[in-house]
Amino acid sequence: MALRVRAAMEAISLAMADQTDRGEVAFYIPELATSDPQNFAMSVSLASGEQISVGTSDTAFSIQSISKIFTLAIALGRFGDGFWRRVGREPSTMAFNSIQELEIRKGRPANPFVNAGAITTTDMILAGSTPAECIGEILQFVRLAASDDEIFVNPAVAASETATGHKNWALAHVLTAFGNLEHPCEMTLGVYFHQCAIAMTCAQLARCGRFLAGFDAEQDLVAAKHVRSINALMMTCGHYNGSGEFAYRVGIPSKSGVGGGILAIVPHVASIAVWSPGLDRDGNSLLGIQALELLSESMGWSLFQGATSSLDNPLVSNRSRTCR
Ligand code: DON
Repeated sequence: MALRVRAAMEAISLAMADQTDRGEVAFYIPELATSDPQNFAMSVSLASGEQISVGTSDTAFSIQSISKIFTLAIALGRFGDGFWRRVGREPSTMAFNSIQELEIRKGRPANPFVNAGAITTTDMILAGSTPAECIGEILQFVRLAASDDEIFVNPAVAASETATGHKNWALAHVLTAFGNLEHPCEMTLGVYFHQCAIAMTCAQLARCGRFLAGFDAEQDLVAAKHVRSINALMMTCGHYNGSGEFAYRVGIPSKSGVGGGILAIVPHVASIAVWSPGLDRDGNSLLGIQALELLSESMGWSLFQGATSSLDNPLVSNRSRTCR
């Protein structure tokens, strides 16, 4: 399979180099506004442990909202089903940082991936520790998941968002007003801005996502039932208002960040990271989605594929075998 994946990725990398519409970088975080939209990288980590990368896959970028996957994993591990008392698990209808949506929902965020839900998740895992310890715990989680200690927070990005992230400050205050934040806003947001400022290369991020693919080697990090919950949330809410379109075009659980990264999972087959800093109108990487669509199509990786799809996907081939 690795040879076919490599051939597909090399063709995609060439196609992406030719794209003239590359989206707009995240101007609302000054430190990200200087990102070069010409960057494109993709890395695929397979069940066998083989890793295939194309483009600038060793350049670190800001993972931003992709970090919400890791804080959700920590929170589910600590609180189990009790987690859902404070956060919903339904797709949102407005922008990822909408204050209006939080007000309509009376302070209980739609899901853990909109900013309000992620801030609440961070507030929950902050219980019992200092902000510095909590950031340390999140870093420890991603380093363990990626088997790589060379993953760090970019302090300039964290400082940039602390100074300018007024919507997040507003969301934290609205959460407090509804009694859904236990810590002072500056403590919870201090952790949240730092988790978003974690920098990873595409190669590191693809390895970091392996625990979500259900590979034998990574079974101990997060309980299987929580992996299932996280993948379900990624499928339904991972691209905010663009989640339905992403399911239609790509068909695998996935989570985007405004740094231009996307982590996508083909259960039992692959963990995929893609990065291109230009975003679409929903705040998701424009070329990242195009590249994932092409890869999913050429490998037959959509989970919604019919029974005649790629035999490389054990989910599909097992299912078609049992249905007969
Ligand atoms: O809180 C924010 O606005 C950013 N730190 C993260 C938002 C984000 O990545 C949205 N995803 N596409």
